[in-house]
Amino acid sequence: MKLHGATALVTGAGGGGHGRHFVEQLIERGAAKVYATARRPELVEIPGAEVLRLDISDSASVAAAAAHAGDVDLLVNNAAVSPGVNLVDGDPDTIRSTMDTNFYGTLAMARAFAPVLAGHGGGAILNVLSVMAWSSYDGANAYAASKAAQWGLTNALRLELAGQGTLVSTLMIGMAATPTMKAYAAATLGAGMLPEGLLSDPADNVRAALDGIEAGEIEILADTMAIEAKAALAGAPRSFDPFTGVA
Ligand SMILES: NC(=O)c1ccc[n+]([C@@H]2O[C@H](COP(=O)([O-])OP(=O)(O)OC[C@H]3O[C@@H](n4cnc5c(N)ncnc54)[C@H](OP(=O)(O)O)[C@@H]3O)[C@@H](O)[C@H]2O)c1
Repeated sequence: MKLHGATALVTGAGGGGHGRHFVEQLIERGAAKVYATARRPELVEIPGAEVLRLDISDSASVAAAAAHAGDVDLLVNNAAVSPGVNLVDGDPDTIRSTMDTNFYGTLAMARAFAPVLAGHGGGAILNVLSVMAWSSYDGANAYAASKAAQWGLTNALRLELAGQGTLVSTLMIGMAATPTMKAYAAATLGAGMLPEGLLSDPADNVRAALDGIEAGEIEILADTMAIEAKAALAGAPRSFDPFTGVA
């Protein structure tokens, strides 16, 4: 789809990560309007964006956003939580809330905005995923499972919304140098333990995503780690190691 003149809505634009880059780059590419949505809109200031309060895990908030932003033709489902918990011994409430945000929140957004997109010729949905959708990682398996569920959701939406002409695409990211990832790595691995070379630049990832949307791609591999994880799927079923790239 053409981004120049489009109207986009980006979830999770309040942090310093991919969401903010999506908003800024969409504006740079000439989008007519960009809704920068966040749970705490009072903390968001992005020149040229229309800031909107949105908590994707709150159905009333999702409905209000869809009612307000009835002109959207690109929905970027970027918001997610990434707690460092496993499935067997992790806090059950945290596991459930991870699913509530990453899977059910993304589903709620797709359901609320599908009619909006249909009303504007189909448009596009971009779901921001992770290589953890294709793997597991000791210490973050609640997140991995939620991203795997989002992967299934993305494929299903593509089938279900094809009839209304909606492009449903996914951005697969390995590890990117966002404040959230850096804080997670410092907390779990120890400061300085994450090799800088492993981290992709979120601005580059977003550029690849928007190029992919303009080209009509359904799967966009953002960085080297995403390319390696995808290639590992062709091998025996085993865990992809993000630190060595070896499956
Ligand atoms: N960074 C990486 O290495 C990496 C790798 C693979 C995939 N990803 C994916 O990239 C996307 C963006 O993550 P990021 O790393 O760029 O970090 P980020 O800036 O922390 O982005 C996540 C955003 O989601 C928001 N959020 C969380 N729960 C929400 C809810 N219920 N409703 C609305 N917003 C909510 C957060 O808002 P608050 O500020 O209010 O908490 C935050 O702004 C995520 O989908 C993540 O899974 C990132």
